[in-house]
This record gives sequence, C-alpha cells and structure tokens, in this order.
Amino acid sequence: MTTQPHAIAPDHTYINQLSNHVGAEVVLKGWLYNMRSSGKILFPQLRDGTGVVQCVVLKTAISPELWESLKGLGQESALTIKGTVREDSRAPGGFEIDVTDAEVLQQVHDYPITPKEHGTEFLMDHRHLWLRSRRQHAVLKVRHTVVQAVRNFLDNDGFTLCDSPIFTPAACEGTTTLFEVDYFDGEKAYLTQSGQLYNEATAAAFGKVYCFGPTFRAEKSKTRRHLTEFWMVEPEMAYTRLEDVMSLAERVLSYIAAQVLEKRSEELKVLERDTSKLEAIVAPFPRIHYDDAVKILHEGFEKGALETKFEWGGDFGAPDESYISSQFDRPVMVHHYPAAVKAFYMARDPERPELALGVDVLAPEGYGEVIGGGERATSLEFLEEQIALHQLPQEAFEWYLDLRRYGSIPHGGFGMGIERCTAWMCGIEHIRETIPFPRMIYRIRP
Ligand code: 4AD
Ligand code: MG
Repeated sequence: MTTQPHAIAPDHTYINQLSNHVGAEVVLKGWLYNMRSSGKILFPQLRDGTGVVQCVVLKTAISPELWESLKGLGQESALTIKGTVREDSRAPGGFEIDVTDAEVLQQVHDYPITPKEHGTEFLMDHRHLWLRSRRQHAVLKVRHTVVQAVRNFLDNDGFTLCDSPIFTPAACEGTTTLFEVDYFDGEKAYLTQSGQLYNEATAAAFGKVYCFGPTFRAEKSKTRRHLTEFWMVEPEMAYTRLEDVMSLAERVLSYIAAQVLEKRSEELKVLERDTSKLEAIVAPFPRIHYDDAVKILHEGFEKGALETKFEWGGDFGAPDESYISSQFDRPVMVHHYPAAVKAFYMARDPERPELALGVDVLAPEGYGEVIGGGERATSLEFLEEQIALHQLPQEAFEWYLDLRRYGSIPHGGFGMGIERCTAWMCGIEHIRETIPFPRMIYRIRP
C-alpha cells in the first residue's frame, strides 16, 4: 500500500488513530462533546471529527487554574488535550486519555443542541451544528462510503468519468419538475434533472461512462424520499441491452452494501442498523416483469394488504412499491413498464411496443425505487415522434438526435440516487438526513 505524504507533519493525533499510540503521550484537538464530573475527577468526552474519546482529569494532576477553567466548560467548547493513551475495554472506543495538560481555545456555555430531545424542525434549522452529533456524523460517513464504493466500482470496471452540465436547454425527465433559469440570451435554460442525454453522447465516444453530480427536480410533494436537489450517479454503456443494465445495477448495489458493512461497522452500530438486511443485498436480484408485479399487487389487494386495486398501466405509488418488495428477501428489479408512464427516450419492446425496456430497482424495507434506467431508443424517426408527442422543443434536442444520425447503436444505463441509497444503508426514515444541507420545497436554509 502506498501512503500519501503529509505536506506538513501533523502536530497532533486523531482519535481514530489512538490504537497506534497506546502508552504514549499524545495531543488531541477537538471540541467538548459531553462532561461528567465526580468531586475531584472530570470525565470530558472529546470529539475531533474522527471519533469521540473519554478523558480522565485528576484535580491533583493539573494546575488549580486549569482545573477551574475545565470544570466550567460547556458542550462544544474548543480545546486541546495532552495526555497518555490507556487501553480500556470498557471505554466506548476502547481507549481513555489520562490528561496531563489542556488548553481551552474557546469557552462555550449556550450550545443550542443539548442531549435532550429536540423537534426535527429545530434540528433542521440548526443543521450546521446538528452535523456534529453522533448520529448525523454516522449517516454522513455512510454516505461517503456509498459514494466511494460506487466510484471505485465503476472506475475498476472500465468506466470513464464524463461530467455532464448543470445548465441545460432541454428536459430529460418530463417538464413538470423543471427549474427554469433566466440568464442565457434569448434561450430558456433549466437546471439538469439527469445527465443521461449527455452520457449517451459520451458513451458513443468512450464506450462506458458515468457522470456524478447534483440534479434538480422541482418536486411539488413533501415525501420522505424526495429532495429538490440530490446527487445522482449515472453509468451509461454503448452496445448494451436491458439485461446488461440490470446486471450492472445488481453488481453495483451488492458492492456498495459489502463496502458499507466492511468500512462502516462502527457507524452502523450507532445507527442501530440491522446488518442482516445489508448482508442480504447479494446479486442476483429477482427480475419481475411489470405484468407480474401487477399480479402481485392484485394478490395483495385480495388479501386486504392494499387499499385500492391497482390498475394495469399506471406507475407504482409508494405503498405499491413497498408491497412488491415485501414479497422478496432482497432488492427486486421490475422491468418492462408501460411506456406511457416512462420518459420519451425509452426503447420499446419490439413484441409489445406499449412496453418500455426500462427497469426500476426497488429496495426492501419500504425504501422504494433507488435506481431507474434501461435501454434507450435508437431510431431517429421514433425519437422525433416521441419528442413531438411529449411536446418537447425539437431544436433543443437536435444535438441529441445527431447521436441517432451518426452511429446509432443499442445502449443503456441507469441513475442511482445517492441519498435514497444512503438512507436505505443506514435504515433511517427520511432522506433529508443523508445530505449535509438538504434542499426541499419548504427548506432553503441553512
Ligand atoms: O428514475 P429517474 O428519474 O431516472 C433518471 O433520471 C434517468 N435519466 C437516469 C438514467 O437512466 N441515467 O431517477 C433516478 C434515481 C431514482 O431511482 C432515485 O433514486 C433518484 O434518482 N431520485 C431522487 N432522489 C431524491 N429526490 C428526488 N426527488 C429524486 N428523484 C429521483
Ligand atoms: Mg424513476
């Protein structure tokens, strides 16, 4: 393994490195997470971004002035601590610090987030501080690992990163969720809903590509699965069929789950995640034709598990997705949706042209669709027709149609929402906690 050289040798130790320093004196730099005291001993818990460690301060070991200043410190005071690392199996991280000296950089007495219960709105308003708490820290470490895993997977599988633009002249996923931007001379512009159309261009240049960036949807509904700004990773492959798209999707998700289990076991403990659910995310995933998914929904209705009888031809709602996935022990891939509920670019089943060669991966435990994708239409005439039918401005798509004029081939890919995937890995209720600063119809701050 190669290690990266430090530009400047660090003058202190990080809490997650304490195992390398047992018996030695170290300097830790951080913030006070919590403090207990019992007469002549203080037990400050210090956090430094990499972890939390309990320290032990004996009144007799430090100067009276320092004792006085430490004794009164409130939560999130900034301080550095010098002390000796002692292994202690009863301590939360396995180590304790016997303090020999300390320096207080800032005393804090009125930190708004206390260990008592706060309402979600209050915590969301204080998101810039809430990020410091153990649970939020754990969620965002899992997010980091999800991103790292998906990038590693694609990079090692021969994909080239080709970033797509954020300002676009055309809609990709329907016109109802577009954010319009009034800036470009005489032209309507929108924030991107998906990099897919550009991926199709770069896939024809590089074979296997992916883009990974923020995407925007003016979602009108408040749900636990929707953000207005979210991050999507989108692989796209030339010379590819629906089958290949599905096998890539199940391999990517299995790899992500395995990496989260391996690298984030401490965080999963903090989140009280049932890890058997993540161990079950192993390819191959069941593949269900839309027709059969509808049959499953009809059975559910007859058993009284669903309130209304699903009608063939519609898109699944959250209860439908949850019911379908509750029938399986791992994620399920539903394919061949009615074209009428899917985007204009989807390829059709040649045998049943009313069906699109699209796939949604539905996560278990009620998390619903985490991946959407499929095979793209290849015919110029068909796409011109669809663009007209969807009342999209053809001139904004001329460049896209060029891809069908010059070397059109079967190709496809998918998009995975990072936040939905992270919420599922963490087992948390709402995706707003899976991004540092969530944006929703009713929230632009902080
Ligand atoms: O199913 P969607 O709309 O598919 C596309 O955008 C395709 N163009 C992707 C492609 O084939 N390259 O979105 C893909 C995924 C969803 O499965 C979901 O995980 C996530 O993006 N997603 C959202 N996540 C959070 N908030 C929202 N409002 C989301 N909308 C979609
Ligand atoms: Mg979708």
